[in-house]
Amino acid sequence: MFTTRTARAGLAATAALTVGGLLLAGVTSEAGAAGTGLKTLAEAKNIYFGTALTQSNLSNSTLTAVAGAQFDMVTPGNEMKWDTTEPSNGTYNFGPGDQIVSFAQSHSMRIRGHNLVWHSQLPSWVSSLPSNQVQAAMEAHITTEATHYKGKLYAWDVVNEPFDDSGNLRTDAFYNAMGSGYIADALRTAHAADPNAKLYLNDYNIEGQNAKSDAMYQLVSQLKAQGVPIDGIGLESHFIVGQVPSSMRANMQRFAALGLDVAITELDDRMQTPASNANLAQQATDYAAVVANCLAVPRCVGVSQWGVGDADSWIPGAFPGQGAATMYDNNYQPKPAYNSTATALGGSTTTTPPPPPSSTCKVTDTVNAWNTGLTESITITNTGSSAISGWSLAFTLAGGQAITSAWNATIAPSTGAVTAKNVNYNGSVAPGASVSFGFQASHTGDTSTPGDFTLNGTRCA
Ligand code: XIL
Repeated sequence: MFTTRTARAGLAATAALTVGGLLLAGVTSEAGAAGTGLKTLAEAKNIYFGTALTQSNLSNSTLTAVAGAQFDMVTPGNEMKWDTTEPSNGTYNFGPGDQIVSFAQSHSMRIRGHNLVWHSQLPSWVSSLPSNQVQAAMEAHITTEATHYKGKLYAWDVVNEPFDDSGNLRTDAFYNAMGSGYIADALRTAHAADPNAKLYLNDYNIEGQNAKSDAMYQLVSQLKAQGVPIDGIGLESHFIVGQVPSSMRANMQRFAALGLDVAITELDDRMQTPASNANLAQQATDYAAVVANCLAVPRCVGVSQWGVGDADSWIPGAFPGQGAATMYDNNYQPKPAYNSTATALGGSTTTTPPPPPSSTCKVTDTVNAWNTGLTESITITNTGSSAISGWSLAFTLAGGQAITSAWNATIAPSTGAVTAKNVNYNGSVAPGASVSFGFQASHTGDTSTPGDFTLNGTRCA
C-alpha cells in the first residue's frame, strides 16, 4: 500500500458516484439541502458510515428509509453467520444474506460480510464433528460462502471474536482441531475464494490498549510476518456510556502501523433504560470521540453502527435493563448522538425532518402499564376518501417490549418492527370509519408507545 490517504481517496471516488446515483433516483430527500446525511459527510472525509441490517428490518419502511438516506455500508446482522448459511453439513442457505445484499445494492450501499468463522451462532454439527474433520468442514464452508458472495462484498470478517476476555485464543471447535493455525488457514482459504474482498479479524474489547488488544496485536504481527493475507482489524466498539477508552486512537494507530486498515465495525453505546438526559448527552460525547478517532487515523476506513435505531438494537435483548444505545430513538428520530456525529464529521447540526404525515389515515394509541407489563389499544381512522379493504399497520415497539397476546388483529413478530394485520371480520374500513385492536406486552422499563404508524405502506398522522 503506497499511502493510506490514496486508499481513502479511492473510497471517496466510489462513494461520490454512489451519491450521484442516489440523487438521480431521488432517494436522498431526507439528507436535506445542507447535505447532513451521515454518509454524505463521511464520504467527504473519505470514510464510510455503515449500519447493520437484519432480514426482518427490511420490512420496516421507516427503518429502511433512514438506512438508505444515512448509511453507505451494510453489515448483515445475522444472515451470513454459519448457523444460517450452513445449518447442516453441506446444506447451504444464502437466501437471507442475498436479501440484505440486494437491499444494499439497490441503495448503492457497500457490504461488509459478517462472518465466516465464529465460535458463536455455530450449528452444533460443527462442534460435534470428529476433530480430524473440522478443518475440511471449515475450508468447505469458507470456500462455498465466500465464492457465493464473490465480487459483491467490500470486506469479510473472516474470523470473528477469536479471543476470550483474558486475551487467550478461545478453545472452540476450530482451535481444538487445528490449534492457532486455524486463523491463517481461514484467511488463506477466504483469499483464494474472493481475492478482492478485504479480509478482517474482528473482536470486542480490543478498542483500547489492554491484554486482549495486545494479544490481537501479537497475532496479526505474526500473520503479517508470515505473509498471511490479512487486510484489517475490526474494533466492534460495543461501549457503555462514558467508557470509550482513552487509548483507542493510539491503539488504532499501532495496528495501522503494521500495514493494516482499521474499522469501527459494530458501534453502540449502551445505558440503563429509561435513558436519562445526562446519559444521552454523554452518549453524544462518546459518539463524537469515536468518529474523531477514526478521522485522526488515516488507515481507519469507516464506522458502522450495530443497527439503525434503539428499536432494532440487539442491546435490550443481550443486556436486560440496558438499551438506548444508538443514534436514533425508538421512533427513528435522531438523538443527541446523531447531531454530535454529524458535527464530528464536519456537518451542521440540522436534523432531517421525517416524511410528512399522510392525510389518508390517523392513528391514536393508549397505553396502560404496570411494572412488567402493559396493554396498548390502537385505533386506525380512515381519513382518506376511499374504502380500505384489508389493512396492515407497521410500527416499532420500544426496546424491551415483547407482545404476548393480541385482539382484533394478528401481530408479528413479537418485538421490534412489527406488523398488525386485520382479522377476517375487521378488514374493511369505510372513509371516516375507525377500527380498533390491541395487544398485551411485557416490558423492561420502557413503556413508550410507537410514534410512527404506516398503514398499507403510507405513514399516518
Ligand atoms: C448479535 C446480533 O445482533 C443478534 O441479533 C444475535 O442474537 C447475536 O449476535 N458481536 C458480533 C455480532 O460480532 O455478530 C453480534 O450480533 C453482536 C456481538
